[in-house]
Amino acid sequence: MGSRFLVTTPVPAPGLELLEAAGQVTVLPELPDYETLGELCASGDYDVVLTQLRDQMDAPLLSQARLRGVSNYAVGYNNIDVDAATANGIMVGNTPGVLTDATADIALLLILGTARRVVEADRLVREGNFHGWEPELMLGHDVSGRVLGLAGFGRIARATARRALGFGMEVIFAPRPPGDRPVSDEELGEFTGKVRQVPWTELVERSDFLSVHVPLNEQTRHLVDTDVLERMKPGAILINTARGPIVDEAALVEALRNGTIAGAGLDVFEDEPRLAPGLAELPNTVLLPHVGSATVPVRSEMARLSALNAVAMAEGRIPPHAVNP
Ligand code: DGY
Repeated sequence: MGSRFLVTTPVPAPGLELLEAAGQVTVLPELPDYETLGELCASGDYDVVLTQLRDQMDAPLLSQARLRGVSNYAVGYNNIDVDAATANGIMVGNTPGVLTDATADIALLLILGTARRVVEADRLVREGNFHGWEPELMLGHDVSGRVLGLAGFGRIARATARRALGFGMEVIFAPRPPGDRPVSDEELGEFTGKVRQVPWTELVERSDFLSVHVPLNEQTRHLVDTDVLERMKPGAILINTARGPIVDEAALVEALRNGTIAGAGLDVFEDEPRLAPGLAELPNTVLLPHVGSATVPVRSEMARLSALNAVAMAEGRIPPHAVNP
């Protein structure tokens, strides 16, 4: 009998085709609830489960699971308790690299969209309130010459820096997570002399745009809280394309309401798909439904990578993109 794969919701064809060539594939029509997922993983009917970031693979579930591997269809894997997987002899894989540029594009889109009030401007036109050019209609802010602060300096932060430099922004960053070891001159590579590494407090206080690019874990949960928001410039804008819980969303709503900061561009939310009360009513926000990686080629490539990981794990090999050792 070949390998047996469980796919918790349909993924693009290139991934499914690879799995089908390697064994027997069960694709659930929609994401299972936690109990059902647990039962399926514990059934012994599957070698590898291909999960989404909404599948909660926590320690209780993993301790019952009879699986060789969990292949996450995402670069982020905060939905998986990797230590528990390791303790239970379960390999974990992810899909790094392929969504870097697409996600950085969305970070830039949010920077430009908030600075130039794109959602408000679009609404004005659609609602029939555009009566012709006016000297003071929908004034926003330039991005060139302004400071982009990157919280973290991994792949997506670097791709965002590259783009922002092209827009004439000054780019500073603090390593991830705050307090982590500094990025060495060697690691700065192409960015030497172009971006500056600063302490976390300077990042928060100097940024006109503070863009979050750290993984979600216990150190980074609510990294952006009331204290951080109060230290930001009153004209500053917060951008989050990473994970919602890195920002205390209730504190953000309060800060946007009372003018502590000027705006926010968010592709992720603390309790997706729910929004913190009041967030949707605030005009100074651009809100997207977690679409950082949502291009046809990127999602296909994610499907291919997650399938390659899954096949390797099912066959007892180390996957090309292994998360646990
Ligand atoms: C990821 O891969 O972690 C994104 O959030 C979804 O593509």
